[in-house]
Amino acid sequence: MAKKIVAGNWKMNKNLQEGVALAKELTEVVKNPNCGVIICTPFIHLASVAEVVKGSAIELGAENCADKASGAYTGEVSAEMVKSTGAEYVILGHSERREYYNETPEILKEKVELALANGLKVIFCIGESLEEREANKQNEVVKAELAGSVFHLTAEQWKNIVIAYEPIWAIGTGKTATAEQAEEIHAYIRSCVAEVYGAEVAAETSILYGGSCKASNAPELFAKPDIDGGLIGGASLKAADFKGIIDAW
Ligand code: G3H
Repeated sequence: MAKKIVAGNWKMNKNLQEGVALAKELTEVVKNPNCGVIICTPFIHLASVAEVVKGSAIELGAENCADKASGAYTGEVSAEMVKSTGAEYVILGHSERREYYNETPEILKEKVELALANGLKVIFCIGESLEEREANKQNEVVKAELAGSVFHLTAEQWKNIVIAYEPIWAIGTGKTATAEQAEEIHAYIRSCVAEVYGAEVAAETSILYGGSCKASNAPELFAKPDIDGGLIGGASLKAADFKGIIDAW
């Protein structure tokens, strides 16, 4: 059975002091959760938040890493640097990175490989735009995103991949995919994983839903057989809201 996970993606929110305070608050309220709990923070928070969450139920991740191992790439942060902070995860392929920073499937493939080579687990995001959903192309889109950046991995490497399905039209819009819409495409994603890695591996792959997920809709989403948790943006920025989603498990 796939591991249940609730992961927060703080995006570009919270200064260092605010981020440390939120992480502290979370360690106080999140005790013995029924799922894995991960917070993914901006790079500058990682080392400090790692100290705060050490020994707690909360794991740490970054929101990105470079597509190069090291060297003269001013402003970039490598997978090795991320790992050295104590982080265990990295989000890659988020639609905001694809859209605003022109991250192509090839670039993402490099990032995924470097992350895995440096001992990080990858939360790999896929999802269609509103236009693509209206043209009923969502299955085609998610399959191509998987094929373009992660389906070349070995079965051994795949153990460190978590998939996050995030319909772009539901991110930060307040518009959630219905539990039925989400389940339908999650089941399709799992079938794509099964085609490449077999049914057993597919059953063990965590597939998270992201896009306006909150405490009020999480129970319905998480009740679906192919939804193994959530990747949470806005509702991960307040301890009470995030805990409400964790408690949905
Ligand atoms: O990574 C998280 C997603 O982009 C979802 O963001 O919960 O604010 O809609 P949201």
